Amino acid sequence: MAYEYAIETKMLKKIYGEQVAVNNVSLHIPKGHIYGLLGRNGAGKTSIMKLLLRLISATSGEVYIFGQPVINRERRLFKRIGAIIETPGFYSNLTGTENLEIFAKLRGVTKPHAVEHALELVGLPYRDKKLFGEYSLGMKQRLGIANAIMHDPDLLILDEPINGLDPIGIAEVREFIRKLSVKEGKTILISSHILSEVSMIADDIGILDHGVLLEEETMEELKKKNQKCTLIEVSDVGKAAHILETIFSLSKSDYLIQGENQIKIFKTKMDNARIISELVHKEVGVSSFTEKDDTLEDYFKKITGG
Ligand SMILES: Nc1ncnc2c1ncn2[C@@H]1O[C@H](COP(=O)(O)OP(=O)(O)OP(=O)(O)O)[C@@H](O)[C@H]1O
Ligand SMILES: [Mg+2]
Repeated sequence: MAYEYAIETKMLKKIYGEQVAVNNVSLHIPKGHIYGLLGRNGAGKTSIMKLLLRLISATSGEVYIFGQPVINRERRLFKRIGAIIETPGFYSNLTGTENLEIFAKLRGVTKPHAVEHALELVGLPYRDKKLFGEYSLGMKQRLGIANAIMHDPDLLILDEPINGLDPIGIAEVREFIRKLSVKEGKTILISSHILSEVSMIADDIGILDHGVLLEEETMEELKKKNQKCTLIEVSDVGKAAHILETIFSLSKSDYLIQGENQIKIFKTKMDNARIISELVHKEVGVSSFTEKDDTLEDYFKKITGG
């Protein structure tokens, strides 16, 4: 069966007591993409990931992974998934390698060099003497990710993988997550509460607030929406677009028609007075003309109500 999404949810809902943690969320995570689930503390990111992995059961709604409905933790499906939701219980008196070897055995990972490869991918030494208890936070995070990818899953679900890392650590994690996606075609779902971090890595983004998925779109669309632009409200968008193309030599990618009467022009340093006069001259009513330079961060704050 052909399917487009690695993960799809339909009206997923989770209520804890009286708290609606996840409210009718319909996610669409394309195969092979990096999808960033963005939301403030308490937005419902971890709850969604737990629902996907069936670590908790949904109040209502459906989850599909690789086109199959997730009802139980079917082994056939779940061995294609690697996840870190909460830090796995590593033993502090053993080394990183020893810890992974135990987990590999427990999970039936038989591929030779699986532990070595996973450590190499996250940039931790193999057969090093340092005990897990002596690891820095960044090293602990990396070992968690190594543990999640050891069995070579097609889908990775990582809850806040860059939380607590320093800028170099963040850059490194970003790089190997990209590598897993681009070189190995894996689908990766990551959560974060920091837009700038997600925007540097994700292909798609879902913005979650108080359990509600407010927006879901490609990073490219989101960036375009928020780049510096001039927003014009006109009586006839078709006619206005034609004028912009013919008189001002704009190409199709220089502007975007929004709704029935808005045009966004992305090209900067335009002669605004001349645009208005040409439009009016050609009998296109102009009801507003504004220059926008919102950043993505402003946008995130705005739509999450901050
Ligand atoms: N086991 C639970 N019992 C009751 N309420 C819970 C439980 N787990 C989570 N919640 C509530 O559900 C909401 C969503 O929590 P969740 O942990 O999914 O958010 P989050 O986006 O992961 O937040 P953070 O960024 O702080 O990790 C919160 O209001 C939280 O208090
Ligand atoms: Mg969380």
